[in-house]
Formats: sequence, structure tokens, C-alpha cells
Amino acid sequence: MTSLATIELDAQATPYMPMPAKLVHAEQFTDKERFFRWELPTELEIKAGQFIQIGVMGVGEAPISITSAPGKRTSIDMCIRAVGDVTNALHRLEVGQTAWMRGPFGNGYDVKQCEGQDVLFVAGGLGLAPCRSFIAGVLDNRDKYGDVTILYGARTPADLLFKDDLEEWAARKDVKLLVTVDKSDGQWAGHVGLITTLFRKLTIDPTNTTVFVIGPPIMFKFAVLEVLALGIPENRIYCSLERRMKCALGVCGHCQIREVYVCKEGPVFTYQRVKRMREGI
Ligand SMILES: Cc1cc2nc3c(=O)[nH]c(=O)nc-3n(C[C@H](O)[C@H](O)[C@H](O)COP(=O)(O)OP(=O)(O)OC[C@H]3O[C@@H](n4cnc5c(N)ncnc54)[C@H](O)[C@@H]3O)c2cc1C
Ligand code: FES
Repeated sequence: MTSLATIELDAQATPYMPMPAKLVHAEQFTDKERFFRWELPTELEIKAGQFIQIGVMGVGEAPISITSAPGKRTSIDMCIRAVGDVTNALHRLEVGQTAWMRGPFGNGYDVKQCEGQDVLFVAGGLGLAPCRSFIAGVLDNRDKYGDVTILYGARTPADLLFKDDLEEWAARKDVKLLVTVDKSDGQWAGHVGLITTLFRKLTIDPTNTTVFVIGPPIMFKFAVLEVLALGIPENRIYCSLERRMKCALGVCGHCQIREVYVCKEGPVFTYQRVKRMREGI
């Protein structure tokens, strides 16, 4: 019988071989989204924006963003929305059980790249999951950055993710956090309106700001227009693209947009690059 140690060894030999990861903490965030903390059998070096192919034996694999801080890690966090076979199987796992992981994959983004600048994060819905990793990377070295602003929008107060983090960021004097919901529940005392309505509350220096916009396509489309209207150049606006993925290794072509393998060259791209990809330049 193959031991776990042998599997670990093989995982280093081929990127198709998954490694076991133990679920050490789980928390239901909303009806559909659940937080997971996994203990890894080996240390991984992680960049913000990278993802893991996480699988349940006999069910399949899915790409899921790492939501914890970048760096060398022996445990990683994820926030997973139950939408289909794999994600529902992951939701059924209990603390102490194992999932199977390959990765980390994708280019990711080294947050050192924007040291010395103001940073604006614009996260919509589940987009806060990958965005949290970028935010953690910046806050881990807070003194190296200028103003840090986080805009976060959810559909309703019940859909807000990472409430503990939101409280922590709101309490910090060196972070400006603006949260909005599309629809109030009657009890919500905060801002109501689409995330684009938060932009009028901002004072941004477009010459020295890097922006990360991560969220569903419709939010991305309109949020980017607001960011461009602030005068931020297209090559200082970053986003993370979601595509159907299989290999995550630039082999199968499932994630391809024209000649670009999103799993390998992305998922983090500048808006300038995304525009060119769409236009086929
Ligand atoms: C780089 C990357 C990072 C991601 N990060 C996260 C994350 O942090 N948390 C999270 O919950 N999800 C994330 N996703 C989406 C996640 O991979 C899909 O929801 C998952 O693959 C669905 O698998 P499933 O077997 O549960 O569903 P399936 O049975 O495969 O599909 C269920 C439904 O979801 C649709 N669907 C499946 N995958 C996608 C997709 N990639 N884009 C749009 N629609 C899809 C299908 O068309 C179907 O309608 C990420 C995707 C990518 C590419
Ligand atoms: S998922 Fe196979 S090439 Fe990107």
C-alpha cells in the first residue's frame, strides 16, 4: 500500500500528482460560501493571486484562489462557493479530513512591485477571497506603502465575507475601508449602492496609485471605468481572470484566450493586457 510519505515524494516529481492537505479549520461564511484552513504536508512559497487545484478523490478538481498572506506557508486559507460537484464535495468535508492539492499555480503578483505607492483594492463578492491575499501582503509590510484603501461590495449584508477581517481593517487607522451592499436588510447601517457609488468618496493621486480590481465580470467592467476616470493608467490596474481550467500547467488549452494560457501567464493581468487579449493584439 502507498504511504502518504511516498505520495509527498511523488508530488515533487510530477505536477499532476496531488499532495494531501488536512482540513484544520472550517467556518460557514454564508449559505454558499465556506472558509477553509488547510495544513500542508510541505512548505509552499506563495504569491498573491496564485491558485491551487484542489480535489476530492473520485469527484474531481477545481481551481481555487489562495486567500491567505503570500510568503512561505505550511497552511493556506481558501473561501469556496458551493456551485457544483467538486465545491459541494469540499463543503461536505469535516475538520480532520483530507483534500488533495496541486500547485500553487499561476503567475501571481509580488506585492513588493507596488512598494512606495498608494494602493487601492476594489473587491466585489467572492473577489474578496483572492484580494485578501494581496491585502495581507501589503499590510504585512504596511510602512512600505502609501495610503491603503479597500472598497468592498456584496449583494446584501448576509453575503458579506471575511467579517472578522473587515472589522480588523475598519479598526486600523492606516487603512481606509469602504463597504457597500446592493440591497439593505433593514438593519444595515452602512452604505447602500453598487460598488461604483463608493468612488465618489475617494481622493486618489493617479500618478502614484496601483489598483487591484477583483470581482465578477459585470462588477469588473463598471469598476474599471471608475478607476480609469480617476486617471489611473491601464498598466497600473490589475485584475484576476477566471476561466474553466483542467491542467493548470499550460498544456490542455481549457483556459486559453487566443494564444494566452490564463493558468500560466495569469490569472493576474494588467487591464492593459486584458484589453489587448480581448482585441487580439
Ligand atoms: C484562478 C481561479 C480561481 C478561483 N478561485 C475561486 C475561489 O477562491 N473560490 C471559489 O469558490 N471559486 C473559485 N473559482 C471558481 C471555481 O474554480 C469554480 O467554481 C469551480 O471550478 C466549480 O467546480 P465544481 O466542480 O464545483 O462545479 P461544476 O460542476 O464544474 O460547475 C458548476 C457550475 O459552475 C460553473 N462554473 C464552473 N467553473 C467555473 C468557472 N471557473 N467560471 C465560471 N463558471 C464556472 C459551471 O458552468 C456550472 O454552471 C476560481 C476559478 C479560477 C479559474
Ligand atoms: S488549464 Fe490547461 S492550459 Fe490552462
